Amino acid sequence: MVYPIVVYGDPVLKKKAVDIEKGSIDVKALAEDMFETMYGASGVGLAAPQIGKSIRMFVIDGAPLEEEELMDFKKVFINPRVVTEEGNPFVYEEGCLSIPHIREDIERPEELTIRYFDENWEEHEESFDGIKARIIQHEYDHIEGILFTDRLTPFKKRLLKGKLTNISKGKVKTDYRIAVPRR
Ligand code: NI
Repeated sequence: MVYPIVVYGDPVLKKKAVDIEKGSIDVKALAEDMFETMYGASGVGLAAPQIGKSIRMFVIDGAPLEEEELMDFKKVFINPRVVTEEGNPFVYEEGCLSIPHIREDIERPEELTIRYFDENWEEHEESFDGIKARIIQHEYDHIEGILFTDRLTPFKKRLLKGKLTNISKGKVKTDYRIAVPRR
């Protein structure tokens, strides 16, 4: 099932999401739906708040970026917790399915260690760097209620204000279905 993607301006994107209780929902089925939704929008990551669910879960698949190291980088993260974020500041241009057509350079630490459950409720603790870390950091922000635009300087954000307002009103063209915030 393909969900419409919630866009900028919806309060669910600003809310800190809650842990999923094991057995309370079918996480495998939800992960499949989230992958289907993400592929339909040509994304490399999708977090549950982006389909209107304020729960701590996101999926990623780096394959569409066509980088050798990302070819086999498909994962489901449930109830993740960042253990450490360290290393040099790394600048990378981010985009977001909830903020169509806006891309900005964002600086984040280069390395990340994260603890999470997969769709079989197996626990993992893994470290990532570079683009892999970046994809996870962006999605992790979503379940903390943070968007990449929140990490821009006030000046940069002011420059984007008109575009962001238009997105929040649904005045944006996308080749995937979006859910415009109710007002
Ligand atoms: Ni995003």
